[in-house]
Amino acid sequence: MTVEDRKSWATKDEAVVRELLDMLQITPEECALLASLQDEARANVRAMVDEFYQRLLAHEFTREFITDPDALRVTLTKWFMELFSGKYDDAYAASRLAIGLKHVLIGLPVRYPLMMLDVISRHGEKIAAARGPAAVDAFRKVLALDTATFNQAYENCQLLHLSELTGSERLARRLLTGEV
Ligand code: HEM
Repeated sequence: MTVEDRKSWATKDEAVVRELLDMLQITPEECALLASLQDEARANVRAMVDEFYQRLLAHEFTREFITDPDALRVTLTKWFMELFSGKYDDAYAASRLAIGLKHVLIGLPVRYPLMMLDVISRHGEKIAAARGPAAVDAFRKVLALDTATFNQAYENCQLLHLSELTGSERLARRLLTGEV
């Protein structure tokens, strides 16, 4: 069976985040709710970061990547606080894609960041619960947006390299579907 070209294949870079925001239907009220949680997030981010690195440092395979835990604690804190920024524009999209790319470039298997959503979502939802179930729903949307964007950085890299090798993104996509 021939896989046809898909409309989604033409969506790139920051436009991916715009598309997902549209699909998630994040409302200005939800953005404002999340932004109103800055103080609660700041008061609780340390507990999230502690658990995050405890888990990664406890496992031999993930520990191997953590060369500067103090610096990573700072960048993860900033990343987590930005989930509660209430502003998810093109600059946010570009920065989230760049963060995903950093992980691709250190050779980190994507299963580890995805697994760490367990820690991030638990702490984030607990913080959001201070403003009730609507804020928890809003937090879940933004975390889904971030997860998809992080993963997109991995796919972008695969596609880029395969496109360079084959000279055609279309051919690269067909290779990835197993068609060629
Ligand atoms: C969803 C989960 C994760 C988030 C949100 C996250 C977030 C971040 C952020 C914001 C940075 C800074 C990027 C920059 O300098 O611009 C970073 C860098 C880094 N992260 Fe993560 N991270 C995650 C998972 C992991 C995991 C599981 C590991 C290792 C097992 C890891 C290892 C690293 C390393 C080594 C760097 C430094 C990369 C470099 O500077 O070249 N991260 N991460």
